[in-house]
Amino acid sequence: MVNDLNPQARQMADESMVRNLAAQASAIWPQEALLFARYTLPHRARILDAGCGTGEIASRLAELYPDARVLGVDIIEAHLDLARSRYAHLAPRLEFERQSIFELRAEDATFDLTVCRHVIQSIPHPDRVLAELVRVTRAGGWLHVIAEDYVMLHFQRRALDPRDFWHVAPPAFEAATGTDLHIGRNVFGILAALELHDIAVSYVVVDPLHAPRESFARIIEAWRDGYVEAIGELTPISSESARAYFAQMIANIRDPRGYAVWMVPVWSARVPM
Ligand SMILES: C[S@@+](CC[C@H](N)C(=O)[O-])C[C@H]1O[C@@H](n2cnc3c(N)ncnc32)[C@H](O)[C@@H]1O
Repeated sequence: MVNDLNPQARQMADESMVRNLAAQASAIWPQEALLFARYTLPHRARILDAGCGTGEIASRLAELYPDARVLGVDIIEAHLDLARSRYAHLAPRLEFERQSIFELRAEDATFDLTVCRHVIQSIPHPDRVLAELVRVTRAGGWLHVIAEDYVMLHFQRRALDPRDFWHVAPPAFEAATGTDLHIGRNVFGILAALELHDIAVSYVVVDPLHAPRESFARIIEAWRDGYVEAIGELTPISSESARAYFAQMIANIRDPRGYAVWMVPVWSARVPM
């Protein structure tokens, strides 16, 4: 499993992931869209969405930059098919291709902006992928990376203490899959080692005060549906116990007086001129 470049292939292809990506876009994009103001892009910019999934964000990028050409790449054909049919009205300015982000087909220095969201926590060797993204980005171009970090999630304590879940499941899961579920903080060192300029991070705050409660609840529901089985197989927490933690966390979010928060790091950096 450790040598597999896509250890979460099953979860990524599951129907729960399609729901998850829609809920994540609804919760995160309104805050994230404002962060693109920090990139100065040329007219007819070329944009890559690396690991684009169902095209939720590649399509939003095509709408945000009406003159840009946007390419979304992923390895799951079903996601790409869904993206092509959902966003046919944006073609050919928006295209989707099956490519691995470990080995992109693009020439060096092709893109003005390279986006990679919610991907590098799920794969081994995130440093190799980031180096590949830098390769295809032009000098002076930008990288925009959402790197998840499973200690940046906080829920209220009720019958269960959710810290017991988040402090146990992710370390065991990452050890079993050869991934880094704390890449949200570790990405800084990788960007620095790649000698990128203007490294910055902003946090999208997914909580009931900054995002719709229902979108937040749907994200956690989709994680439950996609991951409880694997959590039972790979971590000391049984599937049944994981289900109970998820049920409590979802109820916490849906409680009109409840508060929970997911801090989502959005990194950016510039390829040196
Ligand atoms: C959680 S989804 C995020 C999708 C999209 N970036 C978004 O934010 O909506 C992660 C995606 O990365 C894709 N992925 C994983 N390994 C990949 C690889 N080596 N090359 C291309 N895509 C990959 C998965 O297939 C999945 O669609």
